[in-house]
Amino acid sequence: MDAPAVDLSTILCGVRLPNPTVLASGVLGLSHQVMARVARAGAGGITSKSCSLKPRAGYHNPTILDWGMGLINAVGLSNPGVEVMVEELQAARELLAPQGIPLIASIFAETIYDFGTVARFISPARPDLIEVNVSCPNIDDRYRLMFAADPYVASQVTRRVKLNTDIPVLVKLSPNVTDLSRIAEAVVEAGADGITAINSLGPGIILDVKTLRPLLAHVTGGLSGSAIRPIAVRCVRDIRRAVGEEVPIVATGGVTTGRDVVEMLLVGAAAVGIGSAVAQRGMDVFRQVNEELRAYMVEHGYGRLSDLRGKALPFV
Ligand SMILES: Cc1cc2nc3c(=O)[nH]c(=O)nc-3n(C[C@H](O)[C@H](O)[C@H](O)COP(=O)(O)O)c2cc1C
Repeated sequence: MDAPAVDLSTILCGVRLPNPTVLASGVLGLSHQVMARVARAGAGGITSKSCSLKPRAGYHNPTILDWGMGLINAVGLSNPGVEVMVEELQAARELLAPQGIPLIASIFAETIYDFGTVARFISPARPDLIEVNVSCPNIDDRYRLMFAADPYVASQVTRRVKLNTDIPVLVKLSPNVTDLSRIAEAVVEAGADGITAINSLGPGIILDVKTLRPLLAHVTGGLSGSAIRPIAVRCVRDIRRAVGEEVPIVATGGVTTGRDVVEMLLVGAAAVGIGSAVAQRGMDVFRQVNEELRAYMVEHGYGRLSDLRGKALPFV
């Protein structure tokens, strides 16, 4: 007997993904060759590493460590700048489009105004979506608060980006805030087409007790991977409650198995981002996660992702 048909495809702001697993920004995704390899490995969408107006060197090594429960990183948003990224994205687009794998260009800036400029410069590469990483410090601000920390500032960034591009925009939110729901509402009101959540949690510190020194050169770093997944699930639930089912969420944070994807779908995710698990287990994680997801759906008699989406919300 044939296995029952299971459809893993999903729609994100009008863009079709063949499966819900998206490469999260920053882990790979700097060069078009690597982006194409991740797509061939089974990802349903590719997010490039966040790029800024000018190149940034980032912090000294060591910048990324696996501490057993997940990763800690202080990369410092190193990137070659928007001019180089446009070329990489154009080349990536040519490789991904025939495979039906959408490309998401991640951007960030140091001022609200510059977010608009980076969005304008990146748009000619025609990524399918633009992801706005607001989890970085705002140098306009006396307190160097990150853009994602304040509903008004996050909405101003969103407005600026929307004014400068006709490409659908995902705003990527941080868990390191007191009222995530209000921030989500504010960016949607300002025109965000969807939300990605969460960025890394923290910052944290891990010490080497032999040398009595921090393990990371930058001392503090963001936490990601399995340890943060329950927080990511709660954040996705909060966002979904705040903005409703019309606004798609790319649920990111600790997704490592098919079971984790199911959990994110149950609180309303449209797709999932996978970052740390790719660094820890290699690109094959996409195929494995999708196989596990498919097996779960077959076992429980679900035909499509919408059969699962938001189904746990009445209980959480
Ligand atoms: C090494 C590393 C670099 C990252 N760089 C970026 C980045 O450039 N832009 C961004 O929006 N998020 C960045 N992130 C955050 C991830 O995209 C993701 O939101 C976070 O790690 C949680 O997902 P995960 O647990 O699957 O890794 C980075 C994460 C890691 C581990």
